[in-house]
Amino acid sequence: MAANIIDGKAFAAKVREQVKGHVDRLKEEHNITPGLAVVLVGEDPASQVYVRSKGKQTVEVGMNSYEHKMDADTSEADLLAVVEKLNNDPTVHGILVQLPLPKHLDEDLIINSISPAKDVDGFHISNVGLLGTGQKSMVPCTPLGCLMMLRDYHGSLSGMDAVVIGRSNIVGKPMAQLLLGDSCTVTIAHSRTKDLPDVVRRADIVVAAVGRPEMVPGDWIKEGATVIDVGINRIERDGKNKLVGDVDFASCAERAGAITPVPGGVGPMTIACLLANTVTACCRANNLAEPEGLTA
Ligand code: GUN
Repeated sequence: MAANIIDGKAFAAKVREQVKGHVDRLKEEHNITPGLAVVLVGEDPASQVYVRSKGKQTVEVGMNSYEHKMDADTSEADLLAVVEKLNNDPTVHGILVQLPLPKHLDEDLIINSISPAKDVDGFHISNVGLLGTGQKSMVPCTPLGCLMMLRDYHGSLSGMDAVVIGRSNIVGKPMAQLLLGDSCTVTIAHSRTKDLPDVVRRADIVVAAVGRPEMVPGDWIKEGATVIDVGINRIERDGKNKLVGDVDFASCAERAGAITPVPGGVGPMTIACLLANTVTACCRANNLAEPEGLTA
């Protein structure tokens, strides 16, 4: 069976279109322009690319984009002061501090200094707790994008067996919470899991988020399962640089019912969901009905 390809690039464009519609409405009917502030500390090249892309897409959907670039040797006190200023700025509805931070800065301390209502990454301990207890929260962007694609493809996920490979705070754990919220039976697998192939073979839904190139081979995949590949790994093959996921696409696509490609699967959904979270945060801040379909 040849798998259906889940086109994350096209889906992300649809989400951005929806976001833009809500932004237009907020401007016209309420005279409010949603604003997203991104804080970048240091010169990490990958982070610079992400931040540029976020800024560009924020402006494309009609929102205000604020960028705060700070030196690599910025002190914790100076960074906390910038976050505090953004927390108190009514034109800023979403705040994102780009990770990783330079080693001398305490990431947990900085993330937990962001106002939970403006925490569009969903990393603040309050949002983690709210998600874990099934309450309204800000939801981390990458797992939210995966959930949107799964709901779009399957309709209901109720009763499905889901295996999440990877237990990170950014993807694995929130992904598991979201799937549980949609009534899946969820297993979180990781590097110490006994007999990982057999665990994955039970799954109707496999979410791979380990950061190891092509580690899931096709013979781990149940016939007809849906495979969501969160991995973005740069490898060199045949003397060329190549982007591959955490699953071996060719062999997994032979057995899966549906699969996300890399690139063009989960990746584009992450920024689209960041924009969606910013609109959601803006609506909540102004006691307006929040957009349907853009959050969990
Ligand atoms: N660095 C890589 N991905 C992310 C993300 O989703 N949010 C933040 N804040 N930093 C990142």
